[in-house]
Amino acid sequence: MTDTTKSPPGLEQLLADLKPDNADLLATFHRIQDAYGYVPRQAMPLLAEKLHTTPAMIYGAITFYSEIRREPPARTIISWCSGPACRLKGSENIRRALEAVLGIGLGESTADKAVGLHLVQCDGTCALAPLVRLNGRPKGPLTVSEAIKLARELKEKGG
Ligand code: FES
Repeated sequence: MTDTTKSPPGLEQLLADLKPDNADLLATFHRIQDAYGYVPRQAMPLLAEKLHTTPAMIYGAITFYSEIRREPPARTIISWCSGPACRLKGSENIRRALEAVLGIGLGESTADKAVGLHLVQCDGTCALAPLVRLNGRPKGPLTVSEAIKLARELKEKGG
C-alpha cells in the first residue's frame, strides 16, 4: 500500500528554491507535474510548509487550474480543442463521439487509465481543424467516424 503521508522522492530538491514571498504557484505546480506526471496529494504538506499556508489552500489552488492533474495521467491523453476554428468545423460532434465510445467525459480517464480526455485551447494549428492532440501531437482534420475509430482502437489496445 502507498504511504499517503510521505513526500514523493526528490520533491525536497525540486522545491528547494521555493520562497513564500515570491512563489509562482502555477509554475510550481507545473514543475511538480513535469517531474511526476501530476501533483501528488503527498506533495501538498511540503508545498504548504514552504509557502507558509495550509494543505487545504494548496489543494484549492490546484483545483482552480484545470491543466494541473491530481492523479497519474492516462497512458494516452486525447486533448480536444475547444477553439473557435475547431468548433466551426464540428468539433462538438467529435467530442460527443469520443465521450460515447470511451465512456468518459472531459477531464476524465478510463478506469484502466488507458485513455484520458481533456479540453485544451487553440494553439494556432487551426489549419488542421477540427483536431485533437494525442499525447500532444495534433491529429486532424478529423471526421466523426475517424474519431470513433481512433477511440475504439485506443480502447482496444489499452491506450
Ligand atoms: S481552434 Fe482548434 S487549433 Fe485553433
